[in-house]
Amino acid sequence: MASLLLLAAAIIFRKASASPIDSFSRAHGDCTQFNIPVVATAPSAIYDIPRVNNDIEAAAWTIHSGTWSIPEGPQLIIRNTTTFGTFNIHVQLCVPKSTSKNTLQIATHGVHYDSRYWDPELVREKQSYVEASLKAGYTILTYDRLGTGQSDIPNAYDVVQAPLELEILRQLTLLARNGTLYNLASKVNSSSAAFHSLPKPNKVTHIGHSFGSFITSAFIARYPDLTEGAIITGFILSKYLGMVGTTAFSPLFGGVSPYNRPSGYIVCSKTGIQNIFFGGNLTTAYSTAMLDYGNAIKQPFAVGELASAFNIIGLPGPGLKAPVQYVLAEFDFYICAGDCKGLADPKVLAATYPNAKEIEVVIQPNTGHAFTLHNNATAGYQLTFDFLAKHGL
Ligand SMILES: *[C@@H]1O[C@H](CO)[C@@H](O)[C@H](O)[C@H]1NC(C)=O
Ligand SMILES: *[C@@H]1O[C@H](CO)[C@@H](O)[C@H](O)[C@H]1NC(C)=O
Ligand SMILES: *[C@@H]1O[C@H](CO)[C@@H](O)[C@H](O)[C@H]1NC(C)=O
Ligand SMILES: *[C@@H]1O[C@H](CO)[C@@H](O)[C@H](O)[C@H]1NC(C)=O
Ligand SMILES: *[C@@H]1O[C@H](CO)[C@@H](O)[C@H](O)[C@H]1NC(C)=O
Repeated sequence: MASLLLLAAAIIFRKASASPIDSFSRAHGDCTQFNIPVVATAPSAIYDIPRVNNDIEAAAWTIHSGTWSIPEGPQLIIRNTTTFGTFNIHVQLCVPKSTSKNTLQIATHGVHYDSRYWDPELVREKQSYVEASLKAGYTILTYDRLGTGQSDIPNAYDVVQAPLELEILRQLTLLARNGTLYNLASKVNSSSAAFHSLPKPNKVTHIGHSFGSFITSAFIARYPDLTEGAIITGFILSKYLGMVGTTAFSPLFGGVSPYNRPSGYIVCSKTGIQNIFFGGNLTTAYSTAMLDYGNAIKQPFAVGELASAFNIIGLPGPGLKAPVQYVLAEFDFYICAGDCKGLADPKVLAATYPNAKEIEVVIQPNTGHAFTLHNNATAGYQLTFDFLAKHGL
């Protein structure tokens, strides 16, 4: 598993296909959405995991994954394989109206959501990380991970797996770094001046949330020269990681409307969304409207990505020189069994990224796992922008 061979990879481009919103103006910037056909090759495997085709099988899957005597990780591999394919990845690129920076952030969302996690529409000014980034002068790329949102929805067992998702992030980063991403954006809507002749980014930083932080952590460990800084939100390695188990998802099969996913996609019930994503004082931390919204934009996930996650969790990154900030929600149930205070071990972090310029850990008070869906979100974002600015990003 350590030898994550990324055999060959190539990217082809074509004019993006239509999406519901091609271009829209924001208070602090302009955004455009398009699809990128990413050609990627990654190691994969056939896992011995239960099939999920209805709600009963969805619940049985969580019981299976929580049963202590059933093996996990590499022991579930029936056969090692290689996945090669072209995967349409739906992206949103937003550029600030005015800025003195030329830093691009690439944001990778977690399980149970798509890229809207970063850009909730409920009260954008108070919640959207995208909006806050534009206001702070950052260009930001968000994308629907494979198997979510408007990206391709391939086989949930054998294709949607963590090493392939890591490779997709690498490909998107390469495109961004060499200017191709901006060039592509300029062609989506040629009447929008905002994306014309953007100089390629001087600096690229990466931010993840939850499973997106597993991917981002692995990315900076494996490809340290492709990032200038990383923000890891909603993830820290400790004995409490995932301890509450996937039964907390209160899972349903994602095969029904509006999701209509194939076999192996699971969606949280509303109770599961509250269990995993919300936390803090019921009067002050979040509103009922936020919980309703968080439930309305939820997405099914593919069981293969959890079965294969062991490939990318906890990879050492001795080559990383860039700074890393960990942002933990004080009352994160899934990651910290409900309380993240005191769980970040500086020795463990320093051993993971021994040459990082700085490793900072901050705790966002009175907040659950979904930072963007809590009242005090923007104050937390400011801690990240301050950290980036301190490092010239
Ligand atoms: C799959 O590959 C891993 C890593 O190379 C190896 O340890 C494992 O034994 C292989 N599993 C099977 C079933 O071939
Ligand atoms: C940019 O990088 C992508 C991905 O590696 C590559 O396919 C493409 O040819 C590069 N384009 C330029 C202009 O360098
Ligand atoms: C293209 O961009 C312009 C300017 O932002 C906008 O008014 C127009 O609606 C966009 N057209 C499409 C098809 O998105
Ligand atoms: C929640 O916050 C309210 C308003 O500040 C306060 O009155 C209440 O005591 C808090 N509840 C708990 C359980 O801390
Ligand atoms: C809001 O978040 C900021 C940044 O973490 C923190 O300093 C502040 O105490 C928080 N406010 C409340 C009311 O929790």
